[in-house]
Amino acid sequence: MNKDILTKTIARLLLPGKGLLAIDEKVETCDKRFEKLGVPTTEEKRREYREILVTAPEMEKYISGYILFDETIRQKTKDGRSFTSVLKEKGIEIGIKADQGLIDFPMHLGEKITQGLDGLSERLKEYKNMGATFAKWRAVFTIGENIPSRDCMEENAKLFAQYALTCQKLNIVPIVEPEILIEGDYSLEKSYEITAQNLKLVFHELKNLNVFIPGMILKTSMVIPGNNPKITIYDEEIAKMTVSCLKKNVPADIGGIVFLSGGQEDEAATEHLNLMHKMGPLPWPLTFSYGRAIQNKTLQSWAHNPEDIATAQALLLTAAQNNSQASIGQYKK
Ligand code: 13P
Repeated sequence: MNKDILTKTIARLLLPGKGLLAIDEKVETCDKRFEKLGVPTTEEKRREYREILVTAPEMEKYISGYILFDETIRQKTKDGRSFTSVLKEKGIEIGIKADQGLIDFPMHLGEKITQGLDGLSERLKEYKNMGATFAKWRAVFTIGENIPSRDCMEENAKLFAQYALTCQKLNIVPIVEPEILIEGDYSLEKSYEITAQNLKLVFHELKNLNVFIPGMILKTSMVIPGNNPKITIYDEEIAKMTVSCLKKNVPADIGGIVFLSGGQEDEAATEHLNLMHKMGPLPWPLTFSYGRAIQNKTLQSWAHNPEDIATAQALLLTAAQNNSQASIGQYKK
């Protein structure tokens, strides 16, 4: 492990005013979104859509890294340039989803653990040869009756630690992403409690395996109430509770923290990040790593009008710019 390489990569990823764009949806997730909009669910359509995201002009002004999926890191533009070379030319770091999705957690109804440790090191070496400098591993938790269980959180935390150490041994920056799903009927306070408990366990296991904390990034959901039924909470409360939870449960020397948007309204995801920065100073770099909140409008525009690439790309750039401003507390509606 070369700590200098890890911290330098993080410094490039978390430059003030920049954030990450997640375009690492697995095939089924991407297809589900296409289906809803009447787009054919073929590999070529996924490639065509992702070409729009990868080649969108000026994205490098606001986005420091793209997180890709195994299929996407191997794809090329229509005129034959690899996506990775397009990103590298723009000075954008290449990230890769390193986990292999979720499986049922045995004996724990309704809970999932993340798979992908088998062959992880070999896969990462291949991705590194393709230019990847950072990786992501996502675990998912549902809030419901008696879940998430401590067992499930502990098991996922152990997997995070093994994954993160494997990345760091190869000088790849690990993003550790424990996502608490927004789907559910739970309060802001419940979200705080579970997020706090989960983060404590995650960092306990990471430290147990001697993961280099300044050489990793936490990707987390915000402290936010479940969306069913929709509870109205002021944006300020969400921002305040999120910052308080992170300050109490995340080591101050972590490389940085980024958020997923998790199905929040695009505007809300931007506004919440903006408000958190207005509450600063914060002990760690804090920015976005959104998928849907940046892609939504672009996907809709392209689905309805696939020939009009300029509009689809302009919408992507605007969303990236809004979140860039939010990441320094300067976003105005
Ligand atoms: P969303 O912003 O759409 O939640 O996606 C981010 C992500 O990487 C989820 O794993």
